[in-house]
Amino acid sequence: MQVRDLSRRAFLGTAGAAGLAAAGCAFPGRVFASVPETLEARTGTARLAPAEYQPTPIWGYDGGVPGPTIRVKQGARVDRRFLNSLPQPSTVHWHGIRIDNAMDGVPELTQAAVAPGDSFDYGFTAPDAGTYWYHPHNRTWEQLARGLYGALIVEEPDAPDVDRDEVLLIDDWRLTEKAEIAENLGAMHDWSHGGRIGNWITVNGDGYWKSTAKRNERLRLRLVNVANARIFSLSLAGLDGWIVALDGQPLETPQRAGRFVMAPAQRVDLIVDVTGETEASIVSHERNGSYAIATFELTESSAARRKEPAAPLPPNPMAQVGPLKTARRAELLMEGGAMGGMMGAMMGGRSMDMRSLVQQGKVWAFNGRADMPEEPLISAALGETVRIRIENRTGWPHAMHLHGYHFRKVLEDGTLGAWRDTTLMQAEESFEIAFVADNPGNWLLHCHMVEHSASGMMTWIRVA
Ligand code: C2O
Ligand code: CU
Repeated sequence: MQVRDLSRRAFLGTAGAAGLAAAGCAFPGRVFASVPETLEARTGTARLAPAEYQPTPIWGYDGGVPGPTIRVKQGARVDRRFLNSLPQPSTVHWHGIRIDNAMDGVPELTQAAVAPGDSFDYGFTAPDAGTYWYHPHNRTWEQLARGLYGALIVEEPDAPDVDRDEVLLIDDWRLTEKAEIAENLGAMHDWSHGGRIGNWITVNGDGYWKSTAKRNERLRLRLVNVANARIFSLSLAGLDGWIVALDGQPLETPQRAGRFVMAPAQRVDLIVDVTGETEASIVSHERNGSYAIATFELTESSAARRKEPAAPLPPNPMAQVGPLKTARRAELLMEGGAMGGMMGAMMGGRSMDMRSLVQQGKVWAFNGRADMPEEPLISAALGETVRIRIENRTGWPHAMHLHGYHFRKVLEDGTLGAWRDTTLMQAEESFEIAFVADNPGNWLLHCHMVEHSASGMMTWIRVA
C-alpha cells in the first residue's frame, strides 16, 4: 500500500501535472493529496524473554515492541495515518505534546475511537523539543500492557554535544511461565491497589537490553517509563552525569544524576559520561534487590573524557506562570482504593455504595465521582493562569497527568518546580500545580497508573 503510494508520488514528481492530464488521470485532486505514513496497531510477537522461551504474542505499533521511534525537528509536523488492525477500538495519544486538541486521541472527548479496520489521520506540529511518547487511549490498561507504545523524539535545532543519543523505553510486563502475557488484565485486586505490577522488566522490548559504548564517550539517554503502573527507582553504574530534562522539558540547571524516581509516563533525559571499566548500566532498585536493566559493554576508550559539565538544553517556548494570587483555582480530591475507607461515590448521576461501584469496575473517585463528569473540573479562559490543588486522600501513590500542557508544582516556599506533564503524588500527599491555560480545548487530567484512571481517576478541564 505504502510502496505503491510512494511510487505514485515519485511518478508525479517527474511527469508533472500536465503529463498526468495527458495520461488521462481521472482524479487529479486525490492524487495530489499527500498520503501520510502509516502507523498500524496490530498483533505480533516480541522476544521479551530469553531464547529458551517462545516469543511473546503482543499488540504493537507496526507489530513491534516498542513501536517505531518517530523523530522530528522542533516545530516540524508529525503526520501519521493510524490504522487499527486490533480486535478492538483504539486511538493514539501523543503523550506530553502540547498538541492541537483534535489530535489528542481521547475517545469521547476529542474523537471517536477508531473501530477495528478503520483509520484516522493524525497531524500536528511539535512545539517543544524533548522526549515524548505515544500510546493508545482506549482500554489503555489492556492495550498498553499488551505492548502498544513508541517514542516520539523532538530534536533541538542544535543538538547537544554528545556522541550518541539512545532512547530507552522501560516497561514492566506480567508474564506467565510460558512468557505469555498473563490474561488477568482486568483483575480488580490490581485496580484497587497499585495497578498492574508485573514480573518482567524490559528495555526496548528486551529483558536483557545490551549495547556497546566506548569509555569516555558522552551519551544522551532518553528514559521513558511506559509501564502500566510500576514506579521505577533508578541509578547509574559506570555512568556519571546529569539529568537535563524532565518530561521533555529542559531543566534550567542540569542536576547531578544520583538515584532518581520515574512514575508511569514520566521521562528523564540524561547526559552521561562513560566512566566504567568494562561495563556500564542503568540499575533498577526493586524491593527484592537491584538489577541492571540496560547494560553497555565497554570497548576501547574514545578520546579523553569531556571536562565540562553538560550544558543546559535550550528552553522550550513555555508561557510563564502568572501571579498565583489572582489565578483561577480548582480543587481535586482523590479518594478510594484498597484500605481507603471510601463509602461510595456518584456514578451515572446516582449515588452508589462501594459494592455497586465495584460491580461497575470503579474503586476510586475524583471529587466524589467515579465516572467521567459531563462538566469539566475547571473552565479557564484562554491565557489565564490556573492553579489546581490536588489532595491525595488515598493510601496509594498516583501519577497525575494533564493532557495538552506542562505544569509546575507550587513549592512550599511559593516558588515553582520544574515543568512536568506527569507528577508523582505519594500516599496522603497534597500539593498545587500551576500553568497557563494557553492551549484551547478539552483536556484530560487523570492518574497514569492506567488501572486507576479506568476505575475512577479521570476528569477534564476546558480552556476556551
Ligand atoms: Cu499518557 Cu492520558 O495519557
Ligand atoms: Cu493512581
